[in-house]
Amino acid sequence: MGSMRRVYLDNNATTPMLPEVFEALRPYFAEHFGNASSIHHHGQETRAAVERARESVAALLGCRASEIVFTSGGTEGDNLAISGLIHAGDHVISSTIEHHAVLNSCKHLEAMGCEVTYVPVDGRGLVDPDDVRRALRPNTKLITIMMANNETGVLQPVEDIGKIAAEADVYFHTDAVQAAGKLAIEVKRLGCDLLSISGHKMHAPQGVGALYVRKGTILQPMFHGGSHERSRRAGTENVPGIIGLGKAAELAREGLERGDLARMSAMRDHIEHKILSEIEATGVNGEGAPRVPNTTNIHFDYIEGEALVIALDLKGLAVSTGAACSSGAIEPSHVLTAMGLPPEIARASLRFSLGKQNTPEDVEFALDLVPQTVARLRELSPVYNRTAVSS
Ligand SMILES: Cc1ncc(COP(=O)(O)O)c(C=O)c1O
Repeated sequence: MGSMRRVYLDNNATTPMLPEVFEALRPYFAEHFGNASSIHHHGQETRAAVERARESVAALLGCRASEIVFTSGGTEGDNLAISGLIHAGDHVISSTIEHHAVLNSCKHLEAMGCEVTYVPVDGRGLVDPDDVRRALRPNTKLITIMMANNETGVLQPVEDIGKIAAEADVYFHTDAVQAAGKLAIEVKRLGCDLLSISGHKMHAPQGVGALYVRKGTILQPMFHGGSHERSRRAGTENVPGIIGLGKAAELAREGLERGDLARMSAMRDHIEHKILSEIEATGVNGEGAPRVPNTTNIHFDYIEGEALVIALDLKGLAVSTGAACSSGAIEPSHVLTAMGLPPEIARASLRFSLGKQNTPEDVEFALDLVPQTVARLRELSPVYNRTAVSS
């Protein structure tokens, strides 16, 4: 069992830390242990490293270092952006396919007396900017719509939405957790006021992230404490995490400049092409929409996605049925059902998501395993056999 080959294609759930990232952050656990707020040598050393990491994250997003607030991850960034701006009586516009970090923040606002409009998506998983425009009200304070969806990889028309927000003088937040490092991001071009990213989706550690807060945007902090992060996020900084995020941002920027992601999208396209041509009754969810280069979400009709995930895991391939946090829940994905997929097709869907560590051999391993496993599960499926016999 210990020597079994394992291939990890679930990088939208989390990514392995890159060795360079680990090397960069390691000294900050023991050797450079200072509190970045201390004025002595130890503190100054850590402070300087944190500020270098801030510069690096700012360079990835095209903003000033002073506009970066370090957080504990994507969930905190989303919560801080949303709850930091909204008061009872305000109206917010979001979408039906957001991550629960945004959706449940919006639900919390509704319980506090705010109104939220959730704009729909079409069959490809895309928000229509005109729906966003039509949802505007005199008391609309914030639009929060994600950049890339975690289940399908579909990229939303955030630049158009940014223009609508600017014209209407409404704040615009985008959850870019699944976009950072996978495509070039320029906050000025997007026209957003707030943008959240998470370390562990881009080969940095879990439990660290950043929120871009455009200069002049006043946020009510979520935590009450010291004046860390320019009083936007109280609490002693997670120094090793921040150093790791800074290094991962630097590597992501270099990778984007080198065009590394073309290799990744070629592997993703190969997975889709092989699966769709070799296995009948399959299809890509979100096909035809612009997508991040590492993600594909495929439906294998007549199969329970959870059963397929387990069968593949037993053979050494890690993939997922959708959002990591929803595994174990019997509900079909809210993203896929919002796209109009019937519940049984949503439940028959699997997400394959690549990371920088994946090789063409990993892809071949998966392409070897998936068709035989699907065939075996379909043999056991009374629905599949009935349909196959009658057609
Ligand atoms: C789109 C999106 N937003 C937010 C999050 C939450 O990020 P974190 O795990 O860093 O809290 C995730 C994680 O799955 C995500 O995919």
